Amino acid sequence: MKTSYTKMRLVIACSILLSACVSRPTDLNKYVPGLGEIMGQIAMRHTKLWFAGAAQNWELAEYEIKELEEGFKDAGELHPKLENITESVPVLFVGNIQRPLKNLEQAVKERNLAQFTQNYELLTKGCNTCHRATEFKFNKIKQPDFNPYSNQDFEAVD
Ligand code: HEC
Repeated sequence: MKTSYTKMRLVIACSILLSACVSRPTDLNKYVPGLGEIMGQIAMRHTKLWFAGAAQNWELAEYEIKELEEGFKDAGELHPKLENITESVPVLFVGNIQRPLKNLEQAVKERNLAQFTQNYELLTKGCNTCHRATEFKFNKIKQPDFNPYSNQDFEAVD
């Protein structure tokens, strides 16, 4: 009798240990970036988009717009609601940045620097309107005036 209890304890101990090992990767897979983290990425894309457009590297500009759209999509899906804010995050995105992003896409397609510049300004305004609407108005975005990404060449590749 005594040995079977010991065996049972051993089996239980092993299964606890095993489940701890097995559950670890699952927990890691559940990692969800916070809205602030996603916004940090969005801010990086916003900067790179400016320098891509200014260098008329339209391929890079197109890529950064796509990445921005993906970032906003992830943010809306992962964090659809904010505390004390009536409008949902996806609705706020549609209202504030969808149009300038679409217009930027068009400007890039037409290789139109003037359109690009104008809509970049509207995009930046959209960031700030949403920051005000979500009680983050102290987080003010502007057109970057220097390029912090010195390890990347923004000139178009031919
Ligand atoms: C839903 C409307 C909304 C839009 C549109 C939006 N933001 Fe945000 N942003 C937020 C909210 C809410 C936070 C605070 C998130 C948090 O920390 O939980 C935030 C935070 C940030 C931060 C702070 C992140 C940090 O850790 O320093 C930056 C930078 C930022 N946004 C950049 C941008 C840029 C650039 C754009 C436009 C291209 C933009 N945001 C558009 C809602 C928005």
